[in-house]
Amino acid sequence: MKVLSVLLLTAAATGGQSFHIGKCSKPAVQEDFNVTQYMGTWYEIEKLPAVFERGICNQATYSLQPDGTVKVHNVELLPNGNINSIEGVAKVKDPSQPAVLSVSFFKGVPDAPYWVLSTDYQSYALVYSCSDYFGLLNIDFAWILARTRALTEDVISQLHEKLTAAGVNVNRLTVSNQTACDMVYGLRHDLQR
Ligand SMILES: *[C@@H]1O[C@H](CO)[C@@H](O)[C@H](O)[C@H]1NC(C)=O
Ligand SMILES: *[C@@H]1O[C@H](CO)[C@@H](O)[C@H](O)[C@H]1NC(C)=O
Repeated sequence: MKVLSVLLLTAAATGGQSFHIGKCSKPAVQEDFNVTQYMGTWYEIEKLPAVFERGICNQATYSLQPDGTVKVHNVELLPNGNINSIEGVAKVKDPSQPAVLSVSFFKGVPDAPYWVLSTDYQSYALVYSCSDYFGLLNIDFAWILARTRALTEDVISQLHEKLTAAGVNVNRLTVSNQTACDMVYGLRHDLQR
């Protein structure tokens, strides 16, 4: 785990990842979060740069499992035309905080926080993830997600305000490319599941 942390930090240093001095902020999350209504596919509209995402047309599909955990299926299109797909599991640790999830993609690797700061379930979602390292540094991630491959400027600026309130510099956000994705994915068989 130490090794992973070091790897992450190294990757962070080289990949333009945002790590900061000090501890993570603890922003308010979506009240009365209903995980059932959150299930299904979300498209990435904007994000803080993340070294583990290299493609375009990023999307996530969540499905509730019988044991109450959430299956996570992330898909992106790589520059070489291949589809990169990864599966993980998200769970709520404290039932009194249903919007505070943690997600894990690899066995033996520490969970990453997945906080739903705001969602209306039908159009937009704002997700924040921040991890403390050695009590000295933190790395944060944020994603603006939508049920369609675009969001109105109005909604985006409201979500920017929420991120600003959470201490995130929204100038660091990058716009995700969701151009012609349905067409490209439609041509691929490996996605039809
Ligand atoms: C969550 O949403 C589902 C689907 O709309 C609904 O059946 C369920 O009652 C909701 N749960 C709570 C605690 O409101
Ligand atoms: C988005 O990706 C497409 C390829 O799917 C490319 O043609 C287009 O130039 C990209 N747009 C931006 C803004 O990078």
